[in-house]
Amino acid sequence: MISDKMTEALNDQINKELYSSYLYLSMSSYAAHIGLPGVANWFYVQAQEELSHVERFYAYINSQGQRVILGAIEKPESDFTSALAMFEAALEHEQFVTGRVNDLVNLAVEERDHASQIFLQWFVTEQVEEEENASDIIAKLRLAGDQGGGLFMIDKELASRVFTPPAP
Ligand code: FEO
Repeated sequence: MISDKMTEALNDQINKELYSSYLYLSMSSYAAHIGLPGVANWFYVQAQEELSHVERFYAYINSQGQRVILGAIEKPESDFTSALAMFEAALEHEQFVTGRVNDLVNLAVEERDHASQIFLQWFVTEQVEEEENASDIIAKLRLAGDQGGGLFMIDKELASRVFTPPAP
């Protein structure tokens, strides 16, 4: 069984993951609204991924005989200025989430909670990928341009992303 302190920290992370899903859903809708269906698709898939992260924390807390306590989810931003601005905000948010995951690992180490350390390793790896994905798209948008033909091409590429539930 994990400690109450660890449970509280993991519950807080569920809230952050739900907020992430909210934020990306909001970005998806904005992108659709400004005529970027590929960007909208990419963020919609990202929102689904975040829900799969929630499920992972949810299952772990339950498996440890503790309870999931849900809190209010902060209202996400709903207006964005461009595709580039959205991906920059997404990267910044993922860097914040990485910091939270690192805090959780630090707590697990402090508490000599080996089960949670092992559980959290998946998220440590996942965060590297999440930051890399956003950074790659930012680099492309900066290179090809955040408007006109360059943006059209990138939007087309982002339309192909599909949600695949992460491996256990
Ligand atoms: Fe669940 Fe994007 O971190």
